[in-house]
Amino acid sequence: AAMTVKPALHVLLAGPRGFCAGVDRAIKIVEESLKRFGPPVYVRHEIVHNKFVVQSLEAQGAIFVEELDEVPQDAPVVFSAHGVPKSVPAEAQRRNMVYLDATCPLVSKVHREAERHSAAGRHILLIGHKGHPEVIGTMGQLPPGSVTLVDNLAEAEAVVPPEGPLAYTTQTTLSLDDTAEIVATLTRRFPHLVGPAKESICYATTNRQGAVKAIAARAQMVVVVGAPNSSNSVRLREVAERAGCARAVMVQRGRELDLALVEGVGVLGITAGASAPEVLVDEVIDRLREVYDLTLEEVVVAEENVTFKLPAALAR
Ligand code: F3S
Repeated sequence: AAMTVKPALHVLLAGPRGFCAGVDRAIKIVEESLKRFGPPVYVRHEIVHNKFVVQSLEAQGAIFVEELDEVPQDAPVVFSAHGVPKSVPAEAQRRNMVYLDATCPLVSKVHREAERHSAAGRHILLIGHKGHPEVIGTMGQLPPGSVTLVDNLAEAEAVVPPEGPLAYTTQTTLSLDDTAEIVATLTRRFPHLVGPAKESICYATTNRQGAVKAIAARAQMVVVVGAPNSSNSVRLREVAERAGCARAVMVQRGRELDLALVEGVGVLGITAGASAPEVLVDEVIDRLREVYDLTLEEVVVAEENVTFKLPAALAR
């Protein structure tokens, strides 16, 4: 009988990859709320930007909506990990609703930083992506006109903030390299610009970008498991590409991986965005294993031991 020999493929797994502490906590908040209050529990916006996670929670009785007015008055509601404008909890309070805030503590930290700057009389330049819920949430911590969004380098060159004291802060999931360039440009144009006390790009973003750079340098192809609306996942694909790996693709599920792209590749890197569960990485590996004789190597650039407590209302 003819023997089919699978071609060899060496797989580099980025370490760390996948879930961060903020995502882990946000999902637990929905699950704990379902246990505590019973279904349905409403969630304003995708709890984290991942369809698989959203669908698993829907199967447990969560209902996802975009705005608070879609939630019945007597049902509990969870706010997503990305954070919300102040008007949202204010409205929930006004309507006497039970609400749980799953905003990542590192996003809340940026909110408080923005408030401090504003209280000190500084106008704020927020470096971030227009329309992303985190940006909407951070801008919504302060009265309109207090914050100017800077989306990219061209905007950093062009922005005309009001006269007077100036500070900047950033979205937590940006490209470290792009942000460094934007900050350098802003600092050159506005030498009195005050920076955040501590980097606002979070540890998880920093580590995942470092890890994808390390695998991209050695791989002919990189697969990022993540969603197109997940900011940090989109950045991982870009970082891989800029680190010299021309064939960097994003997939949401294993079956989406185009195996034709893998032909001729000897070393393939895999990473996952902060909102992508490890089972989806397993799906990609399983799909590759159908065709290839795999060897797996974990490339660890940083160890993580961050965890966040659940809100007091859920912590027993
Ligand atoms: Fe928080 Fe960073 Fe994750 S801000 S939700 S730890 S990607």
